[in-house]
Formats: sequence, structure tokens, C-alpha cells
Amino acid sequence: MKNRNMTTMFSNGNSRRHFLKLAGYSALGLMTTGFGPLLNSLEARQNPETIPETEFIPDLDISLIAQPDEVAVFPGKPTQIWRYHAIIHKGDKNRVIEIPGSYLGPIIKARQGEKIRIRFTNSIPEESIVHWHGLHVPAIMDGHPRHVIAQGQSYLYEFEIRNRAGTYWYHPHPHGRTGPQVYRGLAGLFIISDEEEQAAGLPDSEYDVPLVIQDRSFSSNNQLVYMSGHRMEQMTGFLGDVIMTNGLPDFTLSVSSTAYRLRILNGSNSRIYKLAWEDGRPLIIIGTDGGLLERPVYRRYAFLSPGERLEVWADFSDRPVGFKTAMISLPFGGGGSGNIPMGRGMMGATMGQSQSLPDGAGFSVFKIRVTKLVKKNQALPRMLSEIKPVPQDEAVNFFNPRQFYLTMRHMQWSINGRIFQMEDVAGDEIVQLGSKEIWEFNNTGGGMMQPMNLPHPIHLHGKQFRIIERSGVMHEGYVDEGWKDTALLMPGERIRILVDFANYPGLFLYHCHNLEHEDMGMMRNYYVKG
Ligand code: C2O
Ligand code: CU
Ligand code: CU
Repeated sequence: MKNRNMTTMFSNGNSRRHFLKLAGYSALGLMTTGFGPLLNSLEARQNPETIPETEFIPDLDISLIAQPDEVAVFPGKPTQIWRYHAIIHKGDKNRVIEIPGSYLGPIIKARQGEKIRIRFTNSIPEESIVHWHGLHVPAIMDGHPRHVIAQGQSYLYEFEIRNRAGTYWYHPHPHGRTGPQVYRGLAGLFIISDEEEQAAGLPDSEYDVPLVIQDRSFSSNNQLVYMSGHRMEQMTGFLGDVIMTNGLPDFTLSVSSTAYRLRILNGSNSRIYKLAWEDGRPLIIIGTDGGLLERPVYRRYAFLSPGERLEVWADFSDRPVGFKTAMISLPFGGGGSGNIPMGRGMMGATMGQSQSLPDGAGFSVFKIRVTKLVKKNQALPRMLSEIKPVPQDEAVNFFNPRQFYLTMRHMQWSINGRIFQMEDVAGDEIVQLGSKEIWEFNNTGGGMMQPMNLPHPIHLHGKQFRIIERSGVMHEGYVDEGWKDTALLMPGERIRILVDFANYPGLFLYHCHNLEHEDMGMMRNYYVKG
């Protein structure tokens, strides 16, 4: 593996002890990052989460380094990026897959029940920490921004894989800098398998294709352009005019004439996709954030907001070599652009004429071309996995769901009028370990005058939840049937979810996954009291 910074890292013969020391400190709440006395004592009680090394025998042991690098996205000057690199210390080499020519981090693969050790080293010139989006892990392993480490430091992650099989991902989570760090390239997939999934009989190996979709903007000398920092721009979120798939513009997937499992992650900062096949065939959706659905569902189109995943069954067995199609994003309203007085230059912009591609514009996401004829008949399974009915009557607050209003005040997105404070937990953000609760999110303005109405993808850390109901629905195209960790609320919509606060006490985040909204503080802690 080509890796310039590797020598520096391993020239420190002490790195292993350093890692362990770090993890121990944070587990005991001894790190002097200044959280209040309340949290110090709360954290101290969490220390059984950190397993002494002698007892933690990992199935997969890797180093993950975030570092500056460059990649040839276009002919000419290479693009300066930040990227995750991995080194395997223990475990099967095929568990960590680099995507050639991409700024994306390696795909990490694990099985349910396995123990994973990841030694993260930060070699970018600012603070960072890694969050495992969708994974059910202890608070101290979750990559909360209070655990950021400076350039040159390391953080030890050790956890057991308890999630269902599914398409998860990892990305940085320093407060205020998640947007720019993800934008520079720091993101990767984390794919989990389990027995139930393997029994489902889905396409695998080369017929199981991860597709990370993102938007970017480039300067005339091929460098990434983020945003001006103008408040108005941040209010809407970054929107690029180049659609990338797996880190490449104009992406074409060459396929054989058989069935595929396409795992699609929206890794964009703020762009929402309204995915559909170009030829109008329905999307056959087999999975969402937390893995396989019970049975396939059909949609004319499906929304995919930042952070969400969709798994699509795509069968090309009746297609000749040379057949072409595309995954497109259909135009949609309610993306907010019509309500925004300025910023992003989308007013009156038409595709192809303007630098900027507004949210809700139509475009092609990636293309597909059949290049090989194969005789491989694969039928769409009628049953994919077992998904139990939502046990909403088990919620402790069944008659009185917790309410969260997504609101804006003084050019500041907030949740229940509050913005993120590193250690701050309000009384109504404390839940009991082991309880199930209904949380209701309202993108209805909370009774206040809304100068802007925008979509917000709401995400909870550390949990997969179920969606009980959606009201005020402005659109179809939601796939709410399975397990979710991120749910899109268009303006005017309201959802109720059921969350099981099992297994892990401590401080976790919930936030809008529009990364610019998150960075400006549309994020809060919830505390699971053990
Ligand atoms: Cu991908 Cu805090 O989230
Ligand atoms: Cu997350
Ligand atoms: Cu938002």
C-alpha cells in the first residue's frame, strides 16, 4: 500500500501503548477536555465498556489513518483530498477493500458477533474523530465530538458487532467540521453480514455492488471547492454541481446480464436524491439503513437523504449486451429551493446553464451498461429477512411521545430551540437504559414563523429504530418498512419513531444529517441513564 505517512506513524514504537492509554483515559472520564462534573461522574460509571486488552481478542484488527493525499479525478492536475487508509494487523485481507482511484476510505467488512479493533490515527491538520454511522456500539466507541483527537494522536476503538447485516458507514464527527472533512473525502462503507442474510440467497461477490453517491464542486484547476462560509449558504447546505459515484464523476457501472444487489449510500453533505430508473421501471427495494427488509417493496421512486442507505435489486437478465440505463434523480419540489431568497445562485438557474445544481433538480446519478452475457439465473427472494411488527405499545411513553421541533431562529437551525453544546443534556433528553420510547419529530415550524422551510434528515447515533407513522406527508417515495437510523422529513412532515434504548448507557447524539445544519448546531445529546 502506498502510504506516505505510514513511516511516521510506525516509527513511534510506542504506538500500541499510546492507544491503550488513550482509551483508558477517556473511559474513566479523565481526559481534560473540560466536560462538566455531572458528565464526569456519569462517564466514570461507564467504564465496564472498555475491555482490557487481555480480554479483547479481535477477529479483525486494523489501523485506520486519516491523511492528506491526492487523486486524479480529472485529466490534468490531481485533486488534493483527505482520505482514510487502512492497514490490517489481524484478520482476512478481504475484509478491507480499497476503492481504486477514489478518495473514499476502504470498505470495512465484518460479521455479526465479531470483535473489531480499529486504531484510528489522525494525520490531517485539524482535530477529528471517527463515527460509525448506524452501528450499535458503546458511547465511548461512537465517535462523539468530545472525543476528538489532534493531528498526530490516536484513538482506540474496540467493539463487538451487534447489528444486523446491512450497509453502514463511517465518517468524521468533530463539532463544526464534519461537513468540510467529509467533503474533503473522509468517508467509507462498513458492511456487515450475518447468517440470516446469507440464507436469503442474494447476489454476492461481484454482483453485490456498493455505490456511494455524493456531489462536489471543482475549481478550474481540479481542486475541491467547498463553500464561502456565507451564513445563507450554510442555512441551506452545500450543493455541488458534479455528481460523483464511488468518488468518480460520470460513473458507469459495467454489468453482466444477471441480477445485482446495489447498495446505495447518500454520502452527500446536504443533497437529497429522488432516485428512479431512467426507463421508468419501478425500483425494487430490498434493504434500508439497518439491513434487509422483510420482503421486497416496489417504488416508482425513492428519496435518499444524506446518511441514508437503500439496497436495490437490479436484474439485467433480459437485457442484451450493449443495453444502457441510468439511475437518475427526478426533479422535486419542497426541497426548499423555491423558498430561499438567496444563496447558491439557484434562482432561475436551469440545468447546464448555471454553476449550481439546486436541490430538487433532475440529473443522472450513475449509468449502467450491460457488457457481458452470463447464464446465471437468480430469482428475487420473496422473503428477505424477519422484521417483527413495531411493538409500539411497549413504549414507556406510548400516550405521551417525546416531541422534537425542527426550528429556525435568528438564522440558526435548532432542535426544540436548542443548539449543540458539547456536554449539554436537557431534562427532556434523558432516557432510561432498557426502555423503549416513541420520539416524534416535527418539521412543521413548531408554531413559529418560518422564514425558510427545508427538508431535514434526522439521525440518531447508536440505534436502529422503526418508523411508526408519518403525517402531513408531502411526497411518496419513503421506504419506512425496515430498520432505520436516518429519516427524512420534508417541510410540513411529522414522523413518529420507536427507539429501544438497550444495552449501552451514556451520551449519544441526535442531529440533522444535512452536514452544514449539523455543523451549525442542529444537533443535541441524549443521555441514556443506566
Ligand atoms: Cu452519520 Cu452523527 O452521523
Ligand atoms: Cu451516526
Ligand atoms: Cu437540517
